[in-house]
Amino acid sequence: MFEALPAPKLDGIIGLMQAFANDPRTDKIDLGVGVYRDSHGRTPVMRAVKQAEARILEEQDSKSYLSLAGDAAFLDAMETLLLGGAVPNARVAAVGTPGGTSAVRQICELIAKVRPGATVWVSAQTWPNHGPLIAAAGLTARPYRYLDTEAGALDRNGMFADLAEVQAGEVVLLHGCCHNPTGVDLTPQDWAEVAALLERTGATAFVDMAYQGFGEGLDTDAGGLRHLAARLPEVLIAASCSKNFGLYRDRVGIAMAVVPEGQRDAMAATLAGLNRQSFAFPPDHGGRVVSTILGDPMLRAVWLEELDDMRARVQDNRRALADALRNATGSDRMGAVAAQQGMFSILPLSEAQVVRLREDHGIYMLWDGRVNMAGMDPSRAGEVARAVAEVMRG
Ligand code: LMR
Repeated sequence: MFEALPAPKLDGIIGLMQAFANDPRTDKIDLGVGVYRDSHGRTPVMRAVKQAEARILEEQDSKSYLSLAGDAAFLDAMETLLLGGAVPNARVAAVGTPGGTSAVRQICELIAKVRPGATVWVSAQTWPNHGPLIAAAGLTARPYRYLDTEAGALDRNGMFADLAEVQAGEVVLLHGCCHNPTGVDLTPQDWAEVAALLERTGATAFVDMAYQGFGEGLDTDAGGLRHLAARLPEVLIAASCSKNFGLYRDRVGIAMAVVPEGQRDAMAATLAGLNRQSFAFPPDHGGRVVSTILGDPMLRAVWLEELDDMRARVQDNRRALADALRNATGSDRMGAVAAQQGMFSILPLSEAQVVRLREDHGIYMLWDGRVNMAGMDPSRAGEVARAVAEVMRG
């Protein structure tokens, strides 16, 4: 039956993870997959997570099924974390999902249920899995300009010129914060302009929030999302707890829809039905860790301190790399790296230069020049910058 099955092309991020793991060089540097690393190069289990897990181990007395939506305490805690009371609970339907990836997929399936083949506008530079997830649900991705590559900033005119073509019944996908891969975020004014555009056209906003807390702080990072939710009748949200709780392999995500009052129950039942069709019950452990932390003032304080430390470290790495690039290249062309947000930036490198960095220097990054700032120790910024300067010289 499967004789003719072609081997699929591996997602570039996954292929790079494998190549890095197989590289025997001990001084290799992984700026590829978006995983946070501390100054020892480790991705530790957060202290708050360990304490919550100890409590769960002690107190949990059943692992029987919960509802298709998952644990209600997790859903409530995430609603507050994401929306901060911007809309009444009566407008919010949500289900747990295995990670943010499944949340994106479930939202795409939801869109396809009412509008098969619908257009989803996606920033020209985006997370490499967005396109495949949109296509897998039979939807059509259409790019809008996003990055001004020379300035390392938002191509505001290009973005709004492209989005001027958005029609009612289409969807606009936005990164809630810490845009992956550019690190370039919308300002509050940009969010207000996006909201006005969606209001005018009747298109639907879809916000992917994978890095809340890694930009400027939990509430500021959710400011754009909250603005859209308060202003528009419908907002779709996919969120992940992989990065801000360090729960990567436990797969903790949430698919959420903000709808007009009166439509919530039908939406909740539809999302639950979509879960039933793909994995039935979402994984419980990681979501329970999250609700245990968010529901306990002491654990929450420990978590916030750890999250603040991670954010500060990523910002320090940004400054260190920007300075080192300035020294190594004698130019400020990549200075914007210091001001961008979250884990990622794009360095202006060709694919051939990226390959040379990997092969000649053991420095791994995505084919489009995306670097994970949280993967680098600042003590190695000089090394990275000198190698980048060398391949840029040709
Ligand atoms: C990334 O962009 O590297 C992360 O979000 C990991 C992933 O699932 O792709």
